[in-house]
Amino acid sequence: MKLCMIGTGYVGLVSGVCFSDLGNDVICVDKDINKITNLKKGIIPIYEPGLEELVLKNYKNKRLNFSTNLKESVKKSDIIFICVGTPTKKKNNSADLSQVYSAGYEISKSINKYKIIINKSTVPVSTGDEIEKIISKKVKKKYFSVVSNPEFLREGEAIRDFIYPDRVVVGSNDSKSKKIIKNLYSPLISKGANYLSTSRRAAELIKYASNAFLATKITFINEIANLCEKTGIDVEDISIGIGLDKRIGGRFLRAGPAYGGSCFPKDTKAIVSTADKFKTNLSLIKSVIKSNNIRSNLLLKRLSLIMKNKIKNKKISFLGVTFKANTDDMRDSSSLKLIPYLSRKGANIRYYDPTGLKKEFKNLKNVKFSNSIHESIKDSDLIIIHTEWNDFKSINFKKYSKNKKLIIYDMRNIFSPNKIKNLGLKYYGIGR
Ligand code: UDX
Repeated sequence: MKLCMIGTGYVGLVSGVCFSDLGNDVICVDKDINKITNLKKGIIPIYEPGLEELVLKNYKNKRLNFSTNLKESVKKSDIIFICVGTPTKKKNNSADLSQVYSAGYEISKSINKYKIIINKSTVPVSTGDEIEKIISKKVKKKYFSVVSNPEFLREGEAIRDFIYPDRVVVGSNDSKSKKIIKNLYSPLISKGANYLSTSRRAAELIKYASNAFLATKITFINEIANLCEKTGIDVEDISIGIGLDKRIGGRFLRAGPAYGGSCFPKDTKAIVSTADKFKTNLSLIKSVIKSNNIRSNLLLKRLSLIMKNKIKNKKISFLGVTFKANTDDMRDSSSLKLIPYLSRKGANIRYYDPTGLKKEFKNLKNVKFSNSIHESIKDSDLIIIHTEWNDFKSINFKKYSKNKKLIIYDMRNIFSPNKIKNLGLKYYGIGR
């Protein structure tokens, strides 16, 4: 099939590349000339394991192309995916849909035969209805269908999540598009992916409800971790103990810093705002947002206690600063609260991240990037494991054990407390 992806951000690029790898002809379109020129040279704008290889392979065999010409790309395609950003509006926390609607309008100008317009951007319930209205101002309804097909790709695991999804959700209100989209996904269905065909509005809400539920699960275990710290229990035992109940499930029960990234913080706010619009009070999700917002303060309070309130001039090493491992994404990372606070308190901070230096810390006093783990942690008073990169799991702390005052604050619980303590070092984790 001939596909067009509008927007070459995370979702558009990963989905476009994977669809081309499944044998479709795909054009990825973006307004950003620089991005498109780079993509044609094989320069990938994001860090995502496996993506570069797939881009090069499919661009070479001509199933994948890049363009800035939206009109021509839409004309050539049977299915058009809208994959543009829906950031949070500052004034009321709702999703800013201007890019989605403008894509809908642009598409409407180039419909020369029946086409399916699939919305993959995360959007509030009824956005599909609006896109349909926009397009029907220019095009008769029999020439197009508007479908919702949310993505559930995790950064760092996006290619695997695309090829082996837990489920594919497609929301459409007409049987013609339903049949075509099921056919598009047939290579994944034949490998065992669950396929849910539902209404357009339901698909839109499934996306927000999924992310809100996962954010709630994480916040739940983070609050239980707070209780564990006061009661001498290891939260890891609680995660295992409750996760073995199949009704609960063991995944997404890792206690840690506040959740971050491009989705959970944005989508929890947006679903609350949508519910407000429909006069429904999502009090549980509101509490989750509040609890997550104060989580960094709680962690900083504990850090002050660990350091006996002496932070000034202390050498603090941060290992990993992105919102989680296997990504270079800094959006809503808890390090954006932790590092500036400690810098204001007069700490000397060195940070190491496998994805390199971060512009976000460039202007902070006494915050420096180190080129290696060793550079970052040598002579430190405190080491903070902020993200769970595999690179950190094999650090040989024996080498550093001469410094008996060295403290490890393992915010991802990747180390065994006893092993570290047996080296004579002080160890603190989350909820243990
Ligand atoms: C998420 C959803 O998982 C994905 O389905 C959706 O489409 C996009 O948003 P992503 O933001 O890439 O994906 O990361 P995810 O792995 O879900 O983690 C989100 C945040 O939760 C991170 O800050 C992570 O560190 C945190 N987290 C996750 C925990 O603290 N504990 C966990 O057990 C899992």
